Amino acid sequence: MERSVRDVVNLYNPHDPLDEAWTIPAPWYRDARIADLERASVFSTTWQVVGRLDQVRGNGQFFTADLAGEPIVVARGEDSQLRAFYNVCRHHAAAVVTEPQGCAKQFRCPYHGWTYGIDGALKGMVEFDGVCNFDRAKNGLVPIRVDTWENFVFVNLDGRAAPLRDFLGVVPEIVAPLDLEKKLRFFDRRVYTLNCNWKVYVDNYLDGGYHVPHAHKGLSSVIEYTKYTIENFERACLQSSPLSSDSSSETGVAATRQGRAFYLWLYPNFMVNAYEGVMDTNLVLPLAVDRCAVIFDYYFADTSPAAETRNKESIAVSERVQDEDVALCDAVQRGLGSRAYDAGRLSVRREAGEHLFHRLLFADLTNALNHVAAAD
Ligand code: FES
Ligand SMILES: [Fe+2]
Repeated sequence: MERSVRDVVNLYNPHDPLDEAWTIPAPWYRDARIADLERASVFSTTWQVVGRLDQVRGNGQFFTADLAGEPIVVARGEDSQLRAFYNVCRHHAAAVVTEPQGCAKQFRCPYHGWTYGIDGALKGMVEFDGVCNFDRAKNGLVPIRVDTWENFVFVNLDGRAAPLRDFLGVVPEIVAPLDLEKKLRFFDRRVYTLNCNWKVYVDNYLDGGYHVPHAHKGLSSVIEYTKYTIENFERACLQSSPLSSDSSSETGVAATRQGRAFYLWLYPNFMVNAYEGVMDTNLVLPLAVDRCAVIFDYYFADTSPAAETRNKESIAVSERVQDEDVALCDAVQRGLGSRAYDAGRLSVRREAGEHLFHRLLFADLTNALNHVAAAD
């Protein structure tokens, strides 16, 4: 008999201390019902990064995004107010905004030409005279909660969720010393598609540098592996390491990775990776139970044309690390499908971040199941 989704969730025991703990079990990475449950809970109830503030600084600027299967548009109105909406026409559900980003005075649906203000209000319907009981004021784009922190635009699909500040907890304090707003500018974006569940990528990120000496020879030439620290917070994990460069360091890596490595993960799927004058953010998005996309946004202290070559060199270093991670993650996904594997143990020295991730997931999935049960 097929196991119920609750039985699959309960294969994990969140009460084990780290030195007794197991990873979340293989079916969590392979069962489409878990992916559905995550979409309905984790991705629909937490604050999710959907874009950058620098994309919507001016009135009329907008960008579109996709979150938990929902098309979304974020726009700054003529009144300077930042708003987010479901990018779904109230007529017959077409996507109203089709460009990834831009600047507009109004939005015109490409299907039958209805127009909306950038504040979401329905402005005009073509050939709609004589339609009874239709209230234009009640047919604007459906709003979504939106807020910002640093250069990141977050939305939350859950109207009852606590404010973004509560969700972030101590994270702004941890990030404040980096002085991001003053010191770094967005430079470029890369998107990678992986053949693995999104959690495999997050696990790989949260292994406390465990895989670095084995899998990233270049990076490991500058990371002081033994001094690597891992600190858990309520919904975040900070991994940090001093960097060293000596004659054994790879030149490209040493030139673009200086100071201290700062790797911050925010539950469930956002990471901020900073070195001196260099930063990238990673947003991990599930595409299917065994596929995900990771969006890398690269920032640099100097984004002038004079710094372009150096910045591109730095991105090349990161892409090499990323290629190595992609190969590992894809292999892990295949292994999770093997009859030889159910779950694994965690390194106490290295893998406390994964332990936090798994327990937070368990809490969200359990809550969602209990809600469904209560509503039945
Ligand atoms: S679906 Fe948008 S105008 Fe018809
Ligand atoms: Fe890695």
